[in-house]
Parts: sequence; C-alpha cells; structure tokens
Amino acid sequence: MTTIKFPRNINEFADQLIDNLAAHSYALQPNFLSQEESNAVLKHIQALQDEDELKKAGIGKQLKFDVRENLRGDFIRWISKSDEPVIVQSFLQRMDFLMQLLNRTCFLSLKDFEAHYTFYPTNTRYIKHRDRFQHNAHRLISVVCYLASDWKVADGGQLIIYNEGEAHEILPAQGTLVCFRSELEHEVLLTNRERYSITGWMLDQPAKLTFL
Ligand code: OGA
Ligand code: MN
Repeated sequence: MTTIKFPRNINEFADQLIDNLAAHSYALQPNFLSQEESNAVLKHIQALQDEDELKKAGIGKQLKFDVRENLRGDFIRWISKSDEPVIVQSFLQRMDFLMQLLNRTCFLSLKDFEAHYTFYPTNTRYIKHRDRFQHNAHRLISVVCYLASDWKVADGGQLIIYNEGEAHEILPAQGTLVCFRSELEHEVLLTNRERYSITGWMLDQPAKLTFL
C-alpha cells in the first residue's frame, strides 16, 4: 500500500492562511505544492488531455449551461475521490485538513470539497464572475493551486480578486495556493501561455448534491 505523506509542513502555515482568509477574505500560500508535486499533477493532467478527457467548461453548471468561449476559455475534468494519483489524494487530504481547521476556528460548517483539473489554452480568460451563484449557493471557499512552471508577469493569466473596492492581482506561479470567499468577484486575465491548475470549492453540503 502506498503511504500518503502528510501535508508538507501544513501546520506551519495553516494558521496564518486561515487568519488571512478571515481578515481579508482571501489568502495566498506560495509553494503549497513543491516543484516535484506540481510537475507530477501537471503530467497527470497532460496525460488526461492526450486521452481527450478535458472538456470545455460552461458557465453555471447544468442549469443554463452555455459554452461561450470568449467569456470562459478553460477546459476541465472533475476530480474523483478515488482513482487519482497519490499526489492528488494528498492534495485532497490537505483540503480536508484546512476545512476542519476552518470549521473549528471560523465556525463554518464545511462538509465537502469538489474540484477539477483546469487548463486554459493560450489566449483565453475567464471574465469577472462569482463562484457562489444563484444555482449553487453551496460554495463557501474557492481554492486554486497553480501548476505551470516558471510563470512570468508577461505570461499574463493573473487572477484578480475584487474586495472592498480593491483589486488584488495574483500571479499563477507554480505551487501557489490561493483561497478566497466564493462570493467575491474575480476574473482570470487573458493568458499568453498554457495555464494549468487545480480549482476547487469547499462546500456546506456533500458535493454530489450541489449538482441538483
Ligand atoms: C474559476 C476561477 C481562477 C483561477 O475557475 O472559477 O475563477 O485563477 N479560477 O484559475
Ligand atoms: Mn471563479
């Protein structure tokens, strides 16, 4: 049996992460995944791409499902709880750990985590939106972990989070984790190169029910 290593020093930064999330509605953790871990996930997503497993994402899950390339350019594949590489299972465990900590310290009632692999081809973006929308009020915290190596400002693809009249710009640097309250408006700027990530949401009810 493969042993899943417990979150690399997650205890050292989890408290800080949660403090920032509570105080500013968003938080950033560089090197949440090591270079080796990010590359392992990246390789897995690229293998899925070769198998044509990534599908064009729509806006607003099943209801009013509408594929509008100019508004949202990413391709996704939902992550199953079983049958994923060890590194992804370890990532999911880290999310569970953070959710439990959030429940204890911020009196949230997070119950589950849903996530997909995400690929933005060159020259795509995701216009300003919220992740907690009319037909899905169950997403409380959005989480993105970036995977593409060596990201430069000139590569574009920044995540912009809007909060209390300020715009916060986040470079999708390899291994960086960003968490924010799902009701905040945010957008992904046009990317000048292929952009890979895991995107997930902490939910206040079991994941399968959110598709209803
Ligand atoms: C999303 C999203 C942000 C990012 O998928 O809903 O806003 O930086 N992603 O990829
Ligand atoms: Mn979003």
